[in-house]
Amino acid sequence: MGILDHHKKIETNATVLLALSFAVVTVGGIVEIAPLFYLENTIEDVEGMRPYSPLELTGREIYIREGCYVCHSQMIRPMRDEVERYGHYSLAAESQYDHPFQWGSKRTGPDLARVGGRYSDEWHYDHLIDPQSVVPESIMPSYAFLADRVIDGEHVADLMSTHRFVGVPYTDAMIENARFDFVQQATDFGDGEVVERYPGAQQRDFDGNPEVTEMDALIAYLQMLGTLVDFSTFEAEASR
Ligand code: HEC
Repeated sequence: MGILDHHKKIETNATVLLALSFAVVTVGGIVEIAPLFYLENTIEDVEGMRPYSPLELTGREIYIREGCYVCHSQMIRPMRDEVERYGHYSLAAESQYDHPFQWGSKRTGPDLARVGGRYSDEWHYDHLIDPQSVVPESIMPSYAFLADRVIDGEHVADLMSTHRFVGVPYTDAMIENARFDFVQQATDFGDGEVVERYPGAQQRDFDGNPEVTEMDALIAYLQMLGTLVDFSTFEAEASR
């Protein structure tokens, strides 16, 4: 009797089939799940990742408030067409300080995970004021009002404390200096303390208006996206 005949016995007996299927799924499940209980962290640490600076974090809040995620994802999948268009596929570590994450599930517009540094601040400014002025066929709405909304970082320390509460490693010094760092990153006073506290932070007037506006914060956030990890030197742990 061949092995297929044995299989026929199982296939034609619903109870046996069910019992054996259950056994197979149980073994498979244990093999996949049990190791996770022995790992301290399933996110590989990656050099360069750091908590967002107060200005970037504020820009991120504006991004969420305005629903940019409705049309934009922030996750490059490890598939050739995506990697060729957007750059290195996204790493888990790159969204480890995102609460909530911004992976998104819809791309009416392009993925933004690595948009940082791709355009000038002026481009972003013009694009957010009037998208069709730089991309005539664009259907993105205008966010011109952001340029008129002056902000002073009044609540940014509280926002950072909340993120610390859910696991983002903001230090006491970061929270104490939140407002200072917030203003400094969008202007040019001081000695670049913000860049010391947040390596790789870009410090400048992002919108050409000396006052700090929501536009500054949003552009600072966009220009940071995907720039923290240096992919010219990055090697995945498995290939090291
Ligand atoms: C209704 C959908 C929609 C919404 C909402 C939306 N966008 Fe867009 N966005 C688009 C489309 C479509 C494009 C591509 C055409 C263009 O460049 O304008 C785009 C392009 C972009 C680009 C250029 C990306 C690239 O790689 O060329 C950026 C940056 C951007 N959007 C940022 C934002 C931000 C920030 C917000 C929220 C304040 C936002 N978008 C909200 C649809 C949207």
